[in-house]
Amino acid sequence: MIELIKNKQLIQNQLFINNEWLDAESGNTFIVKNPFDQSELTEVSDCGPVDTQAAIEAASNALGLWKILTAGERSAILRKWFNLIIKNQEDLATLLTLEQGKPLMESRGEIAYGASFIEWFAEEAKRIYGDTIPGHQENKRIIVLKQPVGVVAALTPWNFPNAMITRKVAPALAVGCSVVIKPAEDTPLSALALAQLAKEAGFPPGVINVVPTSNPGEVGEVLTSSPKVKKLSFTGSTAVGKLLMKQCAGTVKKLSLELGGNAPFIVFNDSDIEKAVQGAIASKYRNAGQTCVCANRIFVQEAIYDQFLAQFTSAVKGLKTGSGLEKVEIGPLINQKALDKVNRLLQDAEQKGGKVLEGGKLAIKDTTLFKPTVLADATAEMDISQEEVFGPVAPVYKFNTVQEVIEMANDTSAGLAAYFYGNNNRVIWQVAEELEYGMVGINTGMISTAVAPFGGIKESGFGREGSKYGIEDYLVTKYLCLEV
Ligand code: SIN
Repeated sequence: MIELIKNKQLIQNQLFINNEWLDAESGNTFIVKNPFDQSELTEVSDCGPVDTQAAIEAASNALGLWKILTAGERSAILRKWFNLIIKNQEDLATLLTLEQGKPLMESRGEIAYGASFIEWFAEEAKRIYGDTIPGHQENKRIIVLKQPVGVVAALTPWNFPNAMITRKVAPALAVGCSVVIKPAEDTPLSALALAQLAKEAGFPPGVINVVPTSNPGEVGEVLTSSPKVKKLSFTGSTAVGKLLMKQCAGTVKKLSLELGGNAPFIVFNDSDIEKAVQGAIASKYRNAGQTCVCANRIFVQEAIYDQFLAQFTSAVKGLKTGSGLEKVEIGPLINQKALDKVNRLLQDAEQKGGKVLEGGKLAIKDTTLFKPTVLADATAEMDISQEEVFGPVAPVYKFNTVQEVIEMANDTSAGLAAYFYGNNNRVIWQVAEELEYGMVGINTGMISTAVAPFGGIKESGFGREGSKYGIEDYLVTKYLCLEV
């Protein structure tokens, strides 16, 4: 299958340190599989602590020369990287679908989305402004500098093997940091392809390093304990985020954590139902439900509950499942563990009174291809109300009043994304202000873009990615007090 990739340079299976492709010090490799049929795509060098240490050294040594380039010089290299990614969009998308499973259309979208962070931060690189402050004494002048934090460790997830890397490393590189990327063990190939294009774009040796591993705990330990790593940015589960936070305490690293969500999707009586159905489909079933911002709980107001359910279920019936390389809307789940979770949550919900109106089972036996599912009559007692399903299952709840649904929506430790549909301006402002979430989509199910600050509150983490806010996370503030 990997033969589908036309530009063979994009198929890399070693670690990337100092712009060189290397075997792991142990000589070990691990297998990368296609989640659709479990066929082997290739074997990749398996980094351990020694390789990770070497990557940190490389990044640390590269820092001095990289950060003294002008913003314009760094911007030009980032721009070349962006251009190369766009030129190779089709191959990168195919590679992404092969290792991750999402439909090719979505993979093409992810490559463009990922590249847009590089384009955005290539421009932002030139706009890192400090400050001057009126002095506190007649002979004092106060100046504030913004400087790169230093070596950055980027720990990225399998659900967006391309865009979650660029969203972290583009701002880091733009301001003059060097990076060590640890991609998820299920999807290292997209990260390595990005590294190859970075090398072609002209990043100096050591500025970008990639350490694929089948043992993320071991590599994570080295990254979090190293005093040379000054910042860690992680996207993934809340449980792992909490562990990394503890591990980083020893060296007091700057942190950005983009953790799990439990997004409410609220539909008020005065909504445009057709539009709400489309938004719910887009938000719930993107990447087969495997995004942190996917609608996890759909709340529908009583008067339109039946009508919404009928239209939603009929739209879900029309979604095609299959290999991401075919013309489908839903690809496989990433692995058996993900499938087991979906089955467990669904079983629990059915035992507690939920009704499966559509789907509820595998589309093809012995695969992880789960049918898009609608679960009516969901309640707060179900495990699915508190856990991120990360699969194509849409639990639908009934509610009566605005206050009631705000309480239901906020009844979670997560606070990443929320959505609602309605047309009353007063209610729109009230709900937008009272939802305890970092991002709120109003009359839209799609909120992700490089120009807006992506990130959560509560146990969904902190730090922002994208937009002018996304660059702050890679800067430190230094104040100069000059006596004249
Ligand atoms: C995520 O699932 O973590 C990212 C989704 C997005 O960027 O839209």
